Amino acid sequence: MEAINASISFDKKLYAQDIRGSIAHSAMLAKAGIISAEDVKQIHEGLNTILAEIEDGTFEFSTRLEDIHMNVEARLAELIGPAAGRLHTARSRNDQVATDFRLWVKEELQRVEEALTGLLSAFLKRAEEHADTVMPGFTHLQTAQPVTFGHHLMAYVEMFGRDRSRVRDALERIDECPLGTAALAGTGFPIDRHMTAEALGFREPTRNSIDTVSDRDFALEFMSVASICGMHLSRLAEEIVIWSTPQFGFIRLSDSFSTGSSIMPQKKNPDAAELIRAKTGRINGNLIGLLTVMKGLPLAYSKDMQEDKESVFDAAETLDLMLAAMTGMIGDLQVNADAMAAAAGSGYSTATDLADWLVREAGLPFREAHHVTGRAVALAEERKAQLGDLPLDDLKEINPAITDDVYSVLTVEKSVASRTSFGGTAPERVREQVAYWKDRLSRD
Ligand code: ARG
Repeated sequence: MEAINASISFDKKLYAQDIRGSIAHSAMLAKAGIISAEDVKQIHEGLNTILAEIEDGTFEFSTRLEDIHMNVEARLAELIGPAAGRLHTARSRNDQVATDFRLWVKEELQRVEEALTGLLSAFLKRAEEHADTVMPGFTHLQTAQPVTFGHHLMAYVEMFGRDRSRVRDALERIDECPLGTAALAGTGFPIDRHMTAEALGFREPTRNSIDTVSDRDFALEFMSVASICGMHLSRLAEEIVIWSTPQFGFIRLSDSFSTGSSIMPQKKNPDAAELIRAKTGRINGNLIGLLTVMKGLPLAYSKDMQEDKESVFDAAETLDLMLAAMTGMIGDLQVNADAMAAAAGSGYSTATDLADWLVREAGLPFREAHHVTGRAVALAEERKAQLGDLPLDDLKEINPAITDDVYSVLTVEKSVASRTSFGGTAPERVREQVAYWKDRLSRD
């Protein structure tokens, strides 16, 4: 029973939140006249001693005492005697654990928000540096149209910017205090839940005691946000893996974020990126795990809910690490602009520019222009040449309306410079995107 029942091996992580909660609860009990001023003084002294013991490693945790709440309370009884027994008045472990856990997840959400802000700043710096750096844009991982590297990086700024706003949404909803809902029905003692909510830094107390002790949405929401963010990190990690291959050679990772091989001296492996890609799976697994724990539980508390913590702790530790590693990698990766530009010009990436020119300058309907361009690409393929290398006479043979002017749109620089629609890849648009995000980050 002890082996299956105990949670102390993992919920000791909640010690600081548990002690803060007990300090706020006992202060409120004293103010409401439920316990004496002398009791609360002893309780606070005892709890602070316990905090110090845990932090300097001298506290002895016991699985016989099941969880962090009972471990702390039992030690308090050893330290201060009978007054310790009055701490648990008008409280149950059900509202206690919900409070501790919310406090912990709230702090983690704040850490993630900060880490995302750091990652966004790293992106903005690199995107600004590379607003004019041309690279191939892909669909189906086939060369599609030239884009700028700055624009590609700014795509991730949008993604991680949404993650950050999801974190903020979650922070809004988590900000209600469970303390005082007791086992499930509330209490007959004249407690002041607004006072404890305020003391613990929550916006307000929760409104329904049954929901409060049954609810783990806040944990699920954290892991949902973490899963989406992990998915973004993993897509970027995958791109880093591809870009850093000798075949692409778009980027070079610093020695700090890559490893060598024990047998092949030429290797520089993108291990950090691969691990970011892989660790995303743990976060997804943790989310699905807790969703599955919760889905069949009748109201209110069931012991099943003790299984909430390991998932969240693991997801949090994993996400924190992934964000830190990615921020480091983005900050110091080296860009090989020549390799990017060369690749951008291959694969007939300016075919759309030729079609657009035929529409604009020769008045062809787009579908016909598409067909004409297809023939030009086929000819270039046959000659093993780029579109811009085809002689004018040959192009005229495909369509007589083509003039010398067409060569002016067939370079990758012209191609990206022409994509000036709002949100497009033209360098001036990329600089606008960077300016928008810099302003937004400075304001909130
Ligand atoms: N260790 C428990 C948990 O994590 C604390 C709540 C126990 N409540 C109870 N009625 N047994 O959920």
